[in-house]
Amino acid sequence: MKIAIINGPNLNLLGTREPEVYGSTTFEDYFDRLKAQFPTVELLLFQSNIEGEIVGFLQQCGFSCDGIILNAAAYTHTSVAIGDAVKAITAPVVEVHISNTFARESYRHQSFVSPNAAGVIIGFGLQGYALAVRSFL
Ligand code: DQA
Repeated sequence: MKIAIINGPNLNLLGTREPEVYGSTTFEDYFDRLKAQFPTVELLLFQSNIEGEIVGFLQQCGFSCDGIILNAAAYTHTSVAIGDAVKAITAPVVEVHISNTFARESYRHQSFVSPNAAGVIIGFGLQGYALAVRSFL
């Protein structure tokens, strides 16, 4: 099983970025743990701060991967293009957010990804990515 994780803008700063909201673990460290937790799963990781690159990667793996775990970060709330890409591809997408976006500012309550996602995991910290892998298994 081949699963791609796509992380959007500023998620490359996890570990130092607003640790009270996102915790103090870097995604690289968490990704190593995730791979150890699911040794039979082929996990790919893509992070970009650029909207078009995220659309490009969704198109690239969206017809060959078994599943995609997408945390589009701030683009979740703004990007029609990422929402359209999720709709256009055949791989199921699980949307993940580390923080509980519904307990935060109202502009974080809208998602262009959710309407076309297979499921949504919000507010369980980095553990949400493991829950998403489990959902594909
Ligand atoms: C986030 C929530 C978004 O609102 C925010 O812009 C992020 C991270 C999360 O994982 O909690 O960058 O997607």
